[in-house]
Amino acid sequence: MFTRIAIVGAGLMGTGIARHLASNGNAVIAYDADARKLQQARDDNPLPAIRYVSALTDIADADLVIEAVFEDLAVKQTVIRELESIVSKDCVLATNTSSLLVRDIAAVLDTPSRFLGIHYNNPADMNPIVEIIATAETSKPLASAVTTWMSSTGKLAIACADTTGFILNRQSLPYINEAARCVALATPLQVDRLAVSRLGVGLGPFAVMNLVGLDVMAAASRNLASLGHGYQPAARLQSQAPAGAWQIDADDARTPDLPADMADAIEARLLGAMMFPGKDILEQQLCSRDDLHLICREALGYARSSPELLEAMDADQADRSIETYLRHQSG
Ligand SMILES: NC(=O)c1ccc[n+]([C@@H]2O[C@H](COP(=O)([O-])OP(=O)(O)OC[C@H]3O[C@@H](n4cnc5c(N)ncnc54)[C@H](O)[C@@H]3O)[C@@H](O)[C@H]2O)c1
Repeated sequence: MFTRIAIVGAGLMGTGIARHLASNGNAVIAYDADARKLQQARDDNPLPAIRYVSALTDIADADLVIEAVFEDLAVKQTVIRELESIVSKDCVLATNTSSLLVRDIAAVLDTPSRFLGIHYNNPADMNPIVEIIATAETSKPLASAVTTWMSSTGKLAIACADTTGFILNRQSLPYINEAARCVALATPLQVDRLAVSRLGVGLGPFAVMNLVGLDVMAAASRNLASLGHGYQPAARLQSQAPAGAWQIDADDARTPDLPADMADAIEARLLGAMMFPGKDILEQQLCSRDDLHLICREALGYARSSPELLEAMDADQADRSIETYLRHQSG
């Protein structure tokens, strides 16, 4: 569908997106306003399929532009306004924002129908999920065509609503924050072991936090707080973030297993934290049941997705499980 793809902002995400597209046979043009960043991107990713350019006008004939500049509304609006004045009227414009609303960025465009969110997750060339976010003004056929095209690049494309945190962060962060709250009861290593052995996750929540980066997790959690009860950031994660990582890599054979009653309590809280956002997402129809299932299984490594957990219980049981999680929001 797209043959002339440009990425604006050649930082962590922009270069990851360019690498992914290049590895799937696409020619990509990458631009960055900072000459040193552009040079670094070129040095780190010297792929023949990626052409690095130092003038925005060099992407004038693109048919898709994905902006991945700083996460700042004013900066993004300036960039897409400028893009709109440079590219053809048929060029599709997209943002890789993770915490802004797509419609707020689109507000400055003359033609918002050609604008949508294409949210790659970090690392963009490895993470299987890409969220496709259409605003009320995005052309529906366009959003549908982009979703189909994205699948052809080897990604699992999830159509989701223009809502704070989109789907992946909204589903995953309550569980991550609840794990941090459980540090009052158990060590990170103990919680990780429990999550792997009892919940069947591929990687424990603290290992996930260390992998993604505590600063990224803490910032995304603060962003989600505006969604209200159930999405509050854990104080323990916020205070740990400056330290950079949790101490869990010791693989300390001497760390005792948790007493059964404590393990049961933590398991119940983590389970409720997986179910709470799942129920919320489905009730609000922010994405389809099957897409939510895919996110849980393929991106988050859950043994059972939140829809599966909810479907395995009757409504009262599910509500009780969620209530167990919601009791600790102030921590
Ligand atoms: N880092 C993540 O985990 C992650 C995950 C998903 C989405 N995102 C989103 O992707 C976007 C980029 O994040 P990042 O982590 O790659 O940031 P980054 O700081 O690594 O890269 C941003 C790049 O944009 C460039 N830039 C800034 N203003 C520009 C302008 N006016 N024109 C052209 N280039 C400009 C900078 O020089 C820099 O190289 C943000 O919107 C972020 O929210 C980040």
